[in-house]
Amino acid sequence: MFEYTVASDAATQKVGAALGQLVQPGSVIFLQGDLGAGKTTFTKGLAAALGIQQYVKSPTFTLIREYTSGRLPLYHMDVYRLENGGGDELGLEEYFNGAGVSVVEWPQFIEDEWPDDYLQIEIKKVATNDQQRQLLFHPQGQRYEQLVAQLAQAL
Ligand SMILES: Nc1ncnc2c1ncn2[C@@H]1O[C@H](COP(=O)(O)OP(=O)(O)OP(=O)(O)O)[C@@H](O)[C@H]1O
Ligand SMILES: [Mg+2]
Repeated sequence: MFEYTVASDAATQKVGAALGQLVQPGSVIFLQGDLGAGKTTFTKGLAAALGIQQYVKSPTFTLIREYTSGRLPLYHMDVYRLENGGGDELGLEEYFNGAGVSVVEWPQFIEDEWPDDYLQIEIKKVATNDQQRQLLFHPQGQRYEQLVAQLAQAL
């Protein structure tokens, strides 16, 4: 596990951008954290580093937004609304195995659909400071262990 503390919205985006430089086709990134933790903020940085210039906004009502103008396609998902199931109808496997990068907010609601390997990132608010966040990286599988090692070096 790799842990990194940030002190601002911009710093979270910067970490997302550093990860955006390293992701590959088929990378699966799970972002966990409370409402307003910074999952979409992190995704904005990642998208920018992929060269996506469109404004990245929360896909809460569409569940999945695809951005295809960058180095790799970005599939940005927010499955908060699937708290009571339905994730099996989204065809997630095709996204996860696709040519793009999948970034999923609230992945705990589609746990049945998780692939074997993924990078889970936990974003935690720090009680004493409005802007501070703890980012906890939990890689699953060798590919993602390597990715986190590269990220730690880049940061
Ligand atoms: N260090 C920080 N990292 C990320 N966001 C921060 C930070 N400090 C303050 N913020 C603010 O917290 C909010 C995070 O909102 P964001 O939409 O990214 O959260 P989210 O985790 O995607 O929430 P939701 O579960 O509702 O989708 C933004 O208003 C952002 O400016
Ligand atoms: Mg969000």
